[in-house]
Amino acid sequence: MDIKSVILAAGKGTRMKSDTPKVLHEIYGKTLLGYVLDNVKNITNENFVIVGHHAEEVEEFVKKNYDNAKTVLQSPQLGTGHAVSMVCPYLENYDGLVLILCGDTPLITEETLKKFVEYHNSVKSDLTVMSTLFDDPTNYGRIIREADNTLKCIVEEKDATPEQKAVKEVNAGIYCLNWGKIKSAFSQLTSNNAQGEYYLTDIIEWGKKNNLNVNAYILEDNKEIYGINSRVNLAQATRYLTDRVLNNLMVNGVTIVDPASTWISADTEIGQDTIIYPSTYIEGKNKIGQKCKIGPCAHLRGGVTVDDNVKIGNFVEVKKAHIKSNTNVGHLSYIGDSELGEHVNIGAGTITANYDPISKTKSQTVLKDNVKIGSNTVLVAPVTVEEGANVGAGTVVTKPVPAWSLALTRSPLKIFEEWVSKKLN
Ligand code: UD1
Ligand code: CA
Repeated sequence: MDIKSVILAAGKGTRMKSDTPKVLHEIYGKTLLGYVLDNVKNITNENFVIVGHHAEEVEEFVKKNYDNAKTVLQSPQLGTGHAVSMVCPYLENYDGLVLILCGDTPLITEETLKKFVEYHNSVKSDLTVMSTLFDDPTNYGRIIREADNTLKCIVEEKDATPEQKAVKEVNAGIYCLNWGKIKSAFSQLTSNNAQGEYYLTDIIEWGKKNNLNVNAYILEDNKEIYGINSRVNLAQATRYLTDRVLNNLMVNGVTIVDPASTWISADTEIGQDTIIYPSTYIEGKNKIGQKCKIGPCAHLRGGVTVDDNVKIGNFVEVKKAHIKSNTNVGHLSYIGDSELGEHVNIGAGTITANYDPISKTKSQTVLKDNVKIGSNTVLVAPVTVEEGANVGAGTVVTKPVPAWSLALTRSPLKIFEEWVSKKLN
């Protein structure tokens, strides 16, 4: 099926109080806009992101990270209806579906969007709006229904009468349109309202006037359309997302000892019987195997693959690394840009020194199977320690270490007998 999306991201985001555009704020190292683009990527074949405020930064982000999306400039920003009309020149002869979403609503799921489109198709709708119920519907557009319960229109908070304000069903800001039938609405919207804007919501009445089949799809979990307008919202959205992720993991056989202090990104897969100990923070994309022990107080920063039966202990930071099965990184270590074989043991306080500040480049550390690294070792990358080799405690490794050998840098230990007692006398 031919489906394109339009993602509204031109608005100002004043309440974030930030130099960063709102949609480029991050949850677990992924931008809000990134969440939305990832959620549509398996549904749509082309995506338009409407940009305005901080347009260059948002354009650059999209160009760099999403080759299935293009940006379209809206300047000035005259409202949500005006924003969508920006794609009209690109879709003149298009006759498929258009899914409209907001760039600041990262919690919507791919599943929900699929169900939404299925519903749209199953009732042969021309225009479907997603709605949901809130105990406190303040600031949302209200869904106004006819006496027979069919859709009548959407009224914005600022235009609503007291009776309309009491309505708890709200516009989620997500729409599915049969583009061929709706596109002419965009040249006919007016800005005759409290905010002097061209409201996208007015397409509902337009559709009814033009005898189109207009419907609302009620979303059960209203957290999915939680929008980000402030830093308070950002923290709350992170909490909602984390609850969802942790629940899913537990249902699938992962032990989370303390959900309240555990933070795991949605892009992290974890195998059965793995235990995540308290105060662990995992962001970005990662894959953790079965029967692993992670934490307490472990920090995985993305690009981490951990095979089965691996232990990553307290105060261990791991980034862009593959750690193979039965390997232990128990305490106080940094493992970055590395490949660790099977049955490797990393002593406490081991550091992979992966960054060269002169050339500003990162290099790889490779530890083959059965390598044992003594405590307080620095592995200066690029470096390889071949199979079975041992590195003594306190060593700075700057050369390749051959298989089954011992590498050691250590100044001789000196003992000064009775040194303390003499000082004290
Ligand atoms: C909008 C809806 C409201 C709905 C709510 C859901 C309208 C008129 N109202 O209200 O019914 O309940 O979303 O969250 O549509 N944007 C642009 N260009 C513009 C204006 C806005 O791209 O000219 C973008 C914003 O960046 C934002 C989105 O559109 O991502 C929504 O705009 P916003 O001003 O936040 O609308 P709301 O008042 O929240
Ligand atoms: Ca909003």
